[in-house]
Amino acid sequence: MTSAPAREPGVRVCARPDEVHRAAAEAWARAAAEAVGARGRFTVALAGGLTPRGLYELLARDPVFRERLPWGRTHVFWGDERHVPPDHPDSNYRMAREALLSRVPIPAANVHRIPAELPEVAAAAAYERTLRTVFELGPAGVPRFDLVILGMGKDGHTASLFPGAGALLERDHLVVAERVAAVGAWRISLTLPVLNGAARVVFLVTGEEKAAALSAVLGAEGSSSGLPAALVRPADGELLWLVDKAAGALLARGVSERSR
Ligand code: 6PG
Repeated sequence: MTSAPAREPGVRVCARPDEVHRAAAEAWARAAAEAVGARGRFTVALAGGLTPRGLYELLARDPVFRERLPWGRTHVFWGDERHVPPDHPDSNYRMAREALLSRVPIPAANVHRIPAELPEVAAAAAYERTLRTVFELGPAGVPRFDLVILGMGKDGHTASLFPGAGALLERDHLVVAERVAAVGAWRISLTLPVLNGAARVVFLVTGEEKAAALSAVLGAEGSSSGLPAALVRPADGELLWLVDKAAGALLARGVSERSR
């Protein structure tokens, strides 16, 4: 059975990064309410890097979110991780713990970090086992996250899926470890089947250095651009791009008005 064509992505251009963070927090709240109402829990995969920190800090700071979101029924995962220990300054887990997880009442058992202190391939295998256990998957199952938060590099990478990487071709494993030449280090990442199996994917992109890649990803080239971020098109899920004016500066008029 051919899968239904992916829906057109929603694109919202916000005046400033703080508006991107608030729009993302509102999308998080909607996804959490729907998931807990329908399934009794909310599963979310966090992005690393700098951009999403503002979202995490807002969720922890603003009582509208800190006090009303279903933290006790929320399960947090990561879309990718650097191959460093959890207390390393580059750790995506450490950033989320500092900005959010240490400031909201989420049970420790609901925080499923990538064990990046292990050897690379073992870390990926262990995280894949965690996904299969928590999502109660069989050997060929793919988790359906209620929400995946992603960023995008100026080269069009997302999670730790970089242009030309072998990880982009992975269709069997849920998680891969790969040495990334662009950063001169190993990374562990969810694969495209997992990202595209999500119920909702929200990209957060800010800054003028992202404008060219964003224009390629959301413009006429789209997935033919070959940029990893353009390959994230949930087959049966929502895709929302939350960008600031600087990152959206090169978007064609029709694209920048396409908002959900
Ligand atoms: C990471 C992220 C990565 C990030 C982009 C954008 O581990 O670094 O998962 O994919 O989203 O590199 O990073 P910034 O938000 O810092 O620009």
